[in-house]
Formats: sequence, structure tokens, C-alpha cells
Amino acid sequence: TSMHAGLVSPLPQNSTQLPQEFVEADQKHLSNAELESTEDPELDFPVLDLSLLSGDKKHHDEVITAAAEACQNWGFFQIQNHGIDQRLIEKCKEEALRMFQLPLEAKKRCDRPPGTSFGYGSNTWVNQKVQHWAESFHLQLKPMSNVPAMASKLFPDQTSSQQFSSVVEEYMETVQNLAIQVVEILTEGLGLPPAYFSQHLQRERMVSMRLNFYPPCPEPSKAIGLRAHTDPHLITILHQDTVRGLQVQVAEKWVTVKPRPDCFVVNIGDIFQILSNTRYKSGLHRAVVNGQFQRLSMACFLNLPLDCVVAAPPELITTDCPQKYRPFLWLEYLKHAYLYHPITGNDRHEKF
Ligand code: SIN
Ligand code: FE2
Repeated sequence: TSMHAGLVSPLPQNSTQLPQEFVEADQKHLSNAELESTEDPELDFPVLDLSLLSGDKKHHDEVITAAAEACQNWGFFQIQNHGIDQRLIEKCKEEALRMFQLPLEAKKRCDRPPGTSFGYGSNTWVNQKVQHWAESFHLQLKPMSNVPAMASKLFPDQTSSQQFSSVVEEYMETVQNLAIQVVEILTEGLGLPPAYFSQHLQRERMVSMRLNFYPPCPEPSKAIGLRAHTDPHLITILHQDTVRGLQVQVAEKWVTVKPRPDCFVVNIGDIFQILSNTRYKSGLHRAVVNGQFQRLSMACFLNLPLDCVVAAPPELITTDCPQKYRPFLWLEYLKHAYLYHPITGNDRHEKF
């Protein structure tokens, strides 16, 4: 029924068996996301109402405390009434789907060069042998946008290419502002002035987005959409569809983050864990796949400037909680993150 004769996806379609290159070695904790319907209610991640922040002090403080607690326990929570127009989210999703439905040869023109992170591909980290059951596209907005250049390689005509660029850039620009607001909430939750970390983002910042597309999988409990990892970034603001798939590890169990299209999922990255001197936790998470539905997620990452020194503030270094990491440059960490990922057998946190 496809309009184009060529391939659309590098993942085999219409096959009933999972090809060997997608079979995960460690399957004991895998599950079919759609079929697994038991969610431990005690581990339901909090949904915070950001509209309460501008209300009276009591409500404001309740949101700050709840956000801080969620980050101490899991590094994950959801936010509603975040101020981002639902139509913008929908438009960006449509552009993402339009992009993933392009012929494979068009997407291949944006192939992620080996050892780098931007562009199109399915393997997120280097040295990985088993293929993710996913396609992904990583775009950068700041310090310099690569979106128009990628769009003109992807789309044959200027109208489509400009539409993709303008929607995607507007979405990233808008979500980045929300991410800064969330950083300030979490900084306040550490007992610091809200702009303590975000002031470094005034000069320059790094903003990128990874679009993830997971087609239905023939043997979902043998494959993985995105292997367990922590995000190396400062903070991630993720939008997931109505289809389940995102899971967080809590007390050695994998817990599904309930899809709430009116919400964004916030998660702490390694850099915030380090800045908070481990008061906040960069949560281990993954994406599982299912046999029935395709799934789309859009993950926006906010980071410090590359030349920024990452160090916990003296206020958070105490006799009970001594300094956990040596100061370093974010650039240094980023290189490290892609070379020494937990998946490849090295623990990034241990090294720093
Ligand atoms: C992630 O980006 O780590 C999660 C992806 C997803 O929920 O699909
Ligand atoms: Fe992630």
C-alpha cells in the first residue's frame, strides 16, 4: 500500500520472527509493554501542576518540595499545566512521523557518523552489538542549529523542508525555556537561589532533541527499543505518545511511566546528579517495545555550555555528604559519556 517502492525502515517489516541481530542477550527483565498492565501504585511517579507555582507561597513550596523529593527518590516525575500549547506538541509529532515515513535513502543521507551523536540511526552508542528496535534522529538547536541542514537533506522540496525546520525549531525553543524553568525549580529544591545553575545558561547553552520511533515488533519480549541507560545531560524533557514503553528502574524493578499526552516527563541527567552532589539521582531508564502499536517519543536535552566547569556548590558539600566528584568540563564528560557508557561495561559515575 506504500506510495514509494523503496524501503522506509531499516527494521524488517512483515516478518514474524525477530532477526538475530535484534535479540537481546539479557532477556530476563524484558516484557511486552502493552500487555504488562500491573503498575505498582506505590511507584506511580508524581504529576506536578506547574500552574501552582505562581499561586500562593504554600502551593509554590509544595511543588518545589514534591519535585525535589521525586528527584531524590527516582530522578523522574511528570509535569502538567506546563504552559506549552498542545497544538505545538501535536505539530511536532506530525513532523517527526512524516520524517520517519520518508524513504530510507532520504534518512540515510543524514546518517550519524560513527562515534558522534547527531543525525539519523538506530544505535545510540558506539561499540554496541545488538540492534535497538528503533529508529532515531538526533537534532541540535544550540549552540548552532543543524535542523535546516538536516531538513534540506531529508526532504526533496523546499516547502516540506522549511515546514519541518520551523516546527521542530519552534518546539525545541519552547521546550528549552520550560527546561530552564524546571532547572530553577529543582535548584530551589536544593535550597539554592533558583538561578544558581541557570545563570550559566544565559551566556550559552546546548539544546538538542532525539526523536525516537519504535515500530511494532514481531517478538517484543526478545527485543529492546532503547537499552537501559542514564542520560548524560543536565535535564531531559520528554514527550511520549499514548503508547507505553518508557520504564524506570526502581528498587531493581522496571516501572512503566504512565503515558500522559498532556504531560511532559522530566528526568534528571548525570550532570544534575553531579551538581547536586548526589542529592538528586540520574535514573536508569529504557524503552521497551510492543507487538501491536508504533510508538513515538521526543526527548529534549538541556545542557551547560561545553566550556563550563561542572562542580557541586560548596553549600552542598558537608561532612555528611562530602564532595563526590572532582570538578570537570562538560565537554570532557560528553566525550566520556559516548565512549564509556554503562552498556559498554564502564560506569560513567565511577570515573568522575
Ligand atoms: C529515552 O530517550 O531515554 C526514552 C525514550 C523513550 O521513552 O522512548
Ligand atoms: Fe534517556
